[in-house]
Amino acid sequence: MAVSIEKISGSAYLAFPEMSYALEAEFLERNIVSEEVFASKKFFGDILYLPDHEATLIPYFCKTALTDLFILKFDSITDAVHSLCDIQRNWAPALFQYFRRGMLIQDKMPYVNLKVRTFPCTIPQSPIGVYTLIDEHTIFASAVTTSFLPAGNIEFVENHEEPPSRAYLKLYEALTVLPLLFPEKKVLLPKAQNRCLDAGACPGGWTWVLRKLGASVVAVDRSELDQNLMNDRFVTFMKHDAFTLNIDELGEFDWIFSDVICYPQRLYDWIISWIQSGKLHKAICTIKLQGKTDWNLIDKFAQIPNARICHMNYNKHELCLFIIND
Ligand SMILES: C[S@@+](CC[C@H](N)C(=O)[O-])C[C@H]1O[C@@H](n2cnc3c(N)ncnc32)[C@H](O)[C@@H]1O
Repeated sequence: MAVSIEKISGSAYLAFPEMSYALEAEFLERNIVSEEVFASKKFFGDILYLPDHEATLIPYFCKTALTDLFILKFDSITDAVHSLCDIQRNWAPALFQYFRRGMLIQDKMPYVNLKVRTFPCTIPQSPIGVYTLIDEHTIFASAVTTSFLPAGNIEFVENHEEPPSRAYLKLYEALTVLPLLFPEKKVLLPKAQNRCLDAGACPGGWTWVLRKLGASVVAVDRSELDQNLMNDRFVTFMKHDAFTLNIDELGEFDWIFSDVICYPQRLYDWIISWIQSGKLHKAICTIKLQGKTDWNLIDKFAQIPNARICHMNYNKHELCLFIIND
């Protein structure tokens, strides 16, 4: 059998682990596809393939979309490797079967970092394709995808000793994907001399990350942070409702963070009041999604000037809002 490549119609989508239900719901709730088109979906493992839908709007709950699909038929692993590498350098597997065969293919291709990462790290901004084996001699793939992360994946080496909560992983991820969301801006990480507001800070995972980076933090919550952070002279704790803070009295912040558990509307109003104050430079906030998602409100967040929204690996049932004004 000779090697053959055939372009196929449609587009395919991957969500983070255990979040496929949210991706599927979003397709229908936001009317990204009709019920009829959605009914023709197929699954290759976790890959949701819509044969009758070309990618238009990419759902937030999609970690990467495969937007220029083809089927590659091949005899040998070497044939598969050569065919993929003839198209482009970087490829990542999204395997659900033939794992050994898939990794033999991956090992022969130019190196891409599929490992768990150590924070801080930089993600190369180079196109990366995604492929899977739908049988021993057939690859389903796209060279064009919507993420620079390999198959949209990102995970960090965990620190089980120091951080007071696992929420630090969320901020690791947000600060790592930030440059990918704003390729046109040169955004630096929070650093010494930076002043940060951490709203909903208890027990202190995010404040811990910010202190590790050298920034000083005003941490606001109804409950105190972990004692080490409370004793840190670069952490100022305010026992207060974050939403009734007097913005004018707080001074300037380089970064505003919020991980407050609240209705999205509350967060939206708060962010708008910061923007209106002229004091919002950079912000990272989680939008907690309880019950049925109000997609009109999510659209309003997305329409904030210089805002991006994405779903991250460590988010689960929430989205992450980024605003980078300067
Ligand atoms: C998900 S936890 C934050 C975890 C934190 N980011 C960390 O890294 O450890 C949410 C926090 O929001 C706080 N919170 C809820 N409503 C609040 C409000 N109106 N003002 C300030 N904090 C609030 C809760 O007390 C809780 O500590």
